[in-house]
Amino acid sequence: MFRTRRLRKSEGIRRLVRETKLSVDDFVYPLFIEEGENIKTEIVSMPGIHRFSLDRISEELDEVVALDIPAVLLFGIPSNKDDEGTETWNDNGIMQQAIRFIKKNYPSLYVITDVCFCEYTSHGHCGIIHDNDVDNDATLVNIAKQVISHAKAGVDMVAPSGMMDGTIDMIRQSLDNSGFPNLPIMAYSVKYASAFYGPFRDAADSAPTFGDRRTYQMDPSNRDEGMREATFDDQEGADILMVKPALSYLDIIRDLKNNFDRPIACYNVSGEYAMVKAAAQKGWIDGEKVMMESLLSMKRAGADIIITYFAKEAAKILNK
Ligand code: PBG
Repeated sequence: MFRTRRLRKSEGIRRLVRETKLSVDDFVYPLFIEEGENIKTEIVSMPGIHRFSLDRISEELDEVVALDIPAVLLFGIPSNKDDEGTETWNDNGIMQQAIRFIKKNYPSLYVITDVCFCEYTSHGHCGIIHDNDVDNDATLVNIAKQVISHAKAGVDMVAPSGMMDGTIDMIRQSLDNSGFPNLPIMAYSVKYASAFYGPFRDAADSAPTFGDRRTYQMDPSNRDEGMREATFDDQEGADILMVKPALSYLDIIRDLKNNFDRPIACYNVSGEYAMVKAAAQKGWIDGEKVMMESLLSMKRAGADIIITYFAKEAAKILNK
């Protein structure tokens, strides 16, 4: 008889044949940084996750560094919004201040910025609106300004999330022409128009005031199109390709892993976090075990990097 159970008999042999291993090295922890003072506000739909003002962010960063999490992904929440999101390229904006603060006080922490406009525009869309839709090419010009401003502040990597065509090409050229040829780009390459972003939009105050994001984010029905998106970003010079969300899109993570010779990242998004937390609070699932199994499944699917709100909790377990 074929007996597969022989290699499951004890923890010793299970450890020896284990194919996928999670590590704290895999994690990027997202941070919401709000302009203002003395802010530490828990996001109702994301228990354990807070918005911080810069004067209180150290309590969070101390913990991240102590847990040996290698990187953070920054989201800025400005006090002033306008039609174009001009605050995104203010060299003294909240994002730029945050980059400088973290690189000065936590030099070993790798700082990635989310490059987008939805937290900064009065209408909540990811670019400039013309005729009730986001104007792709006009938005690209502002993306370049935003990225250069982050670069000047000392960011380690930029991660454009707006899903405008030509973004990676525009950013690569701008960085190269401005003296930042060594600054890498993590592309939100395959980003779906997903209901799983619900809690994030509360966290980052970025829900669109009209319409939705389906003219720029991808249709969840499409797999081949994901390959097309990743191909363009790869050819335009993205250093890392990302799939977002993660759990409902593990097939796409595997597609990218099999087809591109680039590190693959996935974003375990706010709604995925909220579901686990809510069910665990009700006592309906073992939250820790479901968390670890979910993160493991992303790695098994092919993710080299996992952006997750669970990073601290999972690190505590992995560091034991
Ligand atoms: C900005 C952005 C979003 C997320 C990351 N960057 C929101 C969106 O596209 O609406 C979502 C992250 C999450 O849900 O955790 N464009």
